[in-house]
Amino acid sequence: MKIIGTGSELPSLAVTNEMLSEILDTNNEWISTRTGISQRRIISEESLTELAVSASKKALKNANLEAKDIDFIICSNTVNNYVLPGLSCIVQGELGAHCPCIDLNSACSGFIYALYMAAAYLDMGKVKNILIVCAEEPSKMVDWHARDTSVIFGDGAGATVVTQGKNLKSIHLTTTCAIEPLYYQRELEYNPYTHKQEFKPLVMNGKDVYKMAVNASVQDINTVMKEAHVTQKEISFYLLHQANVRIIETIRDFLGENEDKFPKNIHKYGNTSSASIPILLDEMNMNGQLKDGDILVMSAFGAGFSTGACVMEWSNRMTAAEPPQNNKM
Ligand code: UT7
Repeated sequence: MKIIGTGSELPSLAVTNEMLSEILDTNNEWISTRTGISQRRIISEESLTELAVSASKKALKNANLEAKDIDFIICSNTVNNYVLPGLSCIVQGELGAHCPCIDLNSACSGFIYALYMAAAYLDMGKVKNILIVCAEEPSKMVDWHARDTSVIFGDGAGATVVTQGKNLKSIHLTTTCAIEPLYYQRELEYNPYTHKQEFKPLVMNGKDVYKMAVNASVQDINTVMKEAHVTQKEISFYLLHQANVRIIETIRDFLGENEDKFPKNIHKYGNTSSASIPILLDEMNMNGQLKDGDILVMSAFGAGFSTGACVMEWSNRMTAAEPPQNNKM
């Protein structure tokens, strides 16, 4: 598998820490020192579907493909206005694509789970080009009166197009059921045969998630590097889920790596859940920061508790002329 196109889209409204301090008992100093976030983008006028479609169109353009060339759409999403149909189906319609679509909810780890699924689909040899779009609006899950959760999240969409190739060097997923540290319950319809169900906006035990995230990410990174037979010296960049700058720094400390290998955009966008890595990847691609042959480690963690990491060789060369191959990862 290899990535041949990237795209992203963010909401137009930038909500600064100062703006939050007007509606919550918080302040810029606390938010920026504890999280590294200065502002986040929040959906106001636009819809999540519009962001997902725009990110997907950009990724297709970057891959030099059209909607008709897409053989499968995988959409990583936690909430949107529709419970059904899946957001992937809505994106398909807006793009004018004609291919099977599937949604996956693996919270913040969704992009790595989508890569894993895409690799398996490509491995079957039935599809050539897969669009992965991660579109998230955690602003619709958090309690905007709760300062401990609302300040860290942001909305956004990141997309990639993947095709057959030999650039995915290793990939590893884990899931360990742990509901209490991070969950969100949606209000469901009245049913005359059951008691009214209580629901809760996003609940997070930040300290527990922090510890689980650091331990899991360090372990996952070591696992995928070992499986890919790469050393730290060979890694160009570590693209970590943008959850908290302190989490990224702690993981970097454990690995004993240089700061410049850990690109960050959390200060601008906050934690955009599964969209954070593909948005970061797109920014780096568009800024020309990625060179053919760069070895990238990507690592994410989130509710579930689910985690995933992979080692991917970057190559932005077009593959349109290459015949489909049923190659192994
Ligand atoms: O994508 C995966 C999902 N989530 C994560 O990755 C989150 C992981 N966890 C974290 O990033 C951090 O735990 C947080 C940023 C959420 C919190 O940072 P912390 O250093 O663990 O702070 P804390 O929860 O221990 O709170 C310290 C203090 C508390 O006050 P007291 O009890 O010491 O008086 C909080 O009430 O900070 C207070 N506090 C705030 N103060 C000002 C909590 N939120 C805020 C706030 N503004 N927004």
